[in-house]
Amino acid sequence: MKEKFYLTTAIPYCSGKPHIGNTYEVILTDAIARYKRQMGYDVFFLTGTDEHGIKIETKAKELGITPKQFVDGVYEKVRSIWSLVGASYDKFIRTTDEYHEKAVAAIFKKLYEQGDIYKGVYEGWYCVPDEASFTDTQVTGGLCPDCGRPLQRVREDAYFFRMSKYADRLMKHIEENPGFVEPQSRLKEMVNNFLRPGLQDLCVTRSSFTWGIPVPGDEKHVIYVWIDALSNYITALGYNVDEEGELFKRYWPCDVHIIGKDIVRFHMIYWPIMLLALGLPLPKKIYGHGWLNFGTDKMSKSKGNVMYADELAELFGVDGVRYYTLSAMPYAADGSITYESMAAAYNSDLANNLGNLVNRTVTMNKKYFNGVIQSPGENEGPDTELKETVSGTVRLVRERMDSYHVSDALSAVFDMFRRANKYIDETAPWTLAKTEGAAARLGTVLYNLLETIRIGAVLLTPFLPGTADRILKCLASDCKETGFGGLRPVSVTGEPEVLFARIDENELFKKISGEAAENNKKDEDVKNMDNEVKTEEAADRKYEPLAPMIEFDDFIKPDLRIAKVLECVPVEKSKKLLKFKLDLGFETRQVLSGIARYYKPEELIGKKLVMVANLKPRVMCGEESNGMILAAGGHDSDNVKVLFADDGADIGDRVG
Ligand code: MSP
Repeated sequence: MKEKFYLTTAIPYCSGKPHIGNTYEVILTDAIARYKRQMGYDVFFLTGTDEHGIKIETKAKELGITPKQFVDGVYEKVRSIWSLVGASYDKFIRTTDEYHEKAVAAIFKKLYEQGDIYKGVYEGWYCVPDEASFTDTQVTGGLCPDCGRPLQRVREDAYFFRMSKYADRLMKHIEENPGFVEPQSRLKEMVNNFLRPGLQDLCVTRSSFTWGIPVPGDEKHVIYVWIDALSNYITALGYNVDEEGELFKRYWPCDVHIIGKDIVRFHMIYWPIMLLALGLPLPKKIYGHGWLNFGTDKMSKSKGNVMYADELAELFGVDGVRYYTLSAMPYAADGSITYESMAAAYNSDLANNLGNLVNRTVTMNKKYFNGVIQSPGENEGPDTELKETVSGTVRLVRERMDSYHVSDALSAVFDMFRRANKYIDETAPWTLAKTEGAAARLGTVLYNLLETIRIGAVLLTPFLPGTADRILKCLASDCKETGFGGLRPVSVTGEPEVLFARIDENELFKKISGEAAENNKKDEDVKNMDNEVKTEEAADRKYEPLAPMIEFDDFIKPDLRIAKVLECVPVEKSKKLLKFKLDLGFETRQVLSGIARYYKPEELIGKKLVMVANLKPRVMCGEESNGMILAAGGHDSDNVKVLFADDGADIGDRVG
C-alpha cells in the first residue's frame, strides 16, 4: 500500500477575491502535492474557505444581501482562481458546510463538558460606531485606537479556553520534535514571544454578531472564528467527536500544514492545544512561508497595489504566474512581485533559457535527422559533465522538495537548463552538421540534449504541469523516468513549439495602464462597500512578528541620514510611487518611495526626513532609486507615515 501524505493550505477569509499572495499559497501546496504524487505517495490535498465572522456579516449588510449569499459569491471566485492556477486539491471545504458546522459545535460542547472551556466574563473596550472590541493593551486613555472617539467599557459573558493547562505538554512536544515548525526562525520567535511568557486563557466566543456557529445551548454566542476555521483540517476528513471516518483514519495526522508566517501562532499554539484537548495526534509539521509583497510593500486594497492571479495570467500565462511566484519566494524570507520583475524573469528564464533550449534542440533534430531520435554513442567532451549535472539535479530537487525548499528546487532545474544551453555552444551542432563523418557525434549530442530536456520536463511537472506536458509532447515521449536513456532511438519527435513568446516591456506597460484606468473606476465603485470594515477581528490584529535578534555591528550597517525634500513628483507609470530629489548636504539624490497613496507631493516638499543612504540603486518603473525613505507601517499596515525629522536636525547628519 502506498504511504499516505496529507497536506493542507490555510483557508482564506471569504471576504473578497483572493489576491496573488493567497493564491501563491495554493500554488506552493499544489507543487508539493504533485511532487509527492510523483514520488508515489497517496496524497490528500485539502483547501477551502473560511466563511464566518463579523467582517463578512458587515459586508453582506452593506450590500443588502445575506452573509450566505455573500460568501457563495466569493467562494465561486476562490474556486475559479484555484482552478485557473491548476490547484489539484482532493477536497475543498467551506466552513459553512453543514457537516463542518455540526462537528465544530460538537467539538466545542465536548471541550466545555470536559472543563477545558469555561464560561467567564470578558472585560475590554468597545467602540459603538465602529462595532469593534479592543483589549486593555490596545487602548490608551479610553479612546478608540482607530477613530479616536471615546470607548465604552464592556463586561460580558463569554467562554474561555484553558490554554495554560496544555502549555507544558505543547512545549515538551516542540522540544522533542524540533522540526514541528519550519523555518526554525519562526518556531523560535513563537516560543520566545508567546509560549515562554506564559499562555493566557483564550476567549473563544463572540456575542456582538451572529454570523458564526452558535454555541450549543447558549445561542447568543457564536464560536470564535479561529476555533471554527482550524477544525477544518479534521472535519474535512470526516472527524466528529463520536466518529472518525475512513479518511480521518487514513490521513490524520496531517503531514504538513502550509500557511503564511502571520498565522503561525494560531497553528503552532491554539491548534495543537485543541488537538491535545481532543486527545488527537498533532500534525507532523507546520511550514510558515513568507509573504509575497508588492516590491517591498504589503499588498492591500487601500494601497491600490493588489495583484490577482487571473489578471497576471492574462499577461504572463498560468505557468508564468506559477513560475514567478514559486521562484520568487525564498524558503524563510518574504518574496517580492512587480510587473517589471515578472517580465524580466519570464523573458530570461522561461523564454530564453527554457523556451529557446527546447525550441532549438527539437528544431535541430528535425532539420538534421527529420525528427528521428538517434542512438547515442560514447561520451565525449562535455557529455559526462552534462549527464552528471542532470543526475545531480534530480537528487537536488528531491532533497530540496523534501525539505520544502521549493524555490531552490525550481532554480536547480533552471540551472540544469542553463548548463544544457552551454552544452549547445560547446558542441556546436551546426558545425558538426557541416563536418564530414560527424553525423554519429551530432546524433549523440542531440540525443543528450533531448534527454536532458525530457528529464527536465519530468522534474518540472510539479511546478509547471502545463509546460511539462507541452515539452513532452514536443518530444513525443511519455517516459517519466529521471535516468538517462528514457528516449527510444528511432522514435520521432513532435513539432518544435515556441513555449514562451518574449514579452515586450513597453507593450506590457501599455496594457497595464489601460487596465489600470478601468480598474481605477471599479476601485472607486467598491471603495465605500469595501471601506476596510473595523471589526472584532481587528482586535486580533496580526502584528508583523519581531525579526530575529541582531548584533550591534549589523545595526550600524545601514547609513541613515537626515535629508531635505527638494522636489517631489508622482512617477508616471505607477499609482504608488513618488519620485524625490533629496538634499543630503554633500550631494542630492533621486529616491523613489511607494507612498503616493498616503501623501500629496506638495505636503512633502521642504520637509526633513530620514533616509537609508547606502542602499544599492534599484530601478522601478524605469526610474532609478538611490536610497530609501523611512516610514512606519510599510509592510504590515495600511497606515503609512513618513518618519519626519525635527526641523532643527542638520541635513546630512547620521542617525543612529
Ligand atoms: N482565514 C485565515 C486562515 C485560517 S486557516 C485555519 C486567514 N485567511 S487569509 O485570507 O488572511 O490568509 C490566507 C493565507 O494567505 C494565510 O496563510 C496567509 O498567511 C496567506 N497570505 C495572505 N497574504 C499573503 C501574501 N501577501 N503572501 C503570501 N501569503 C499570504 O488568515
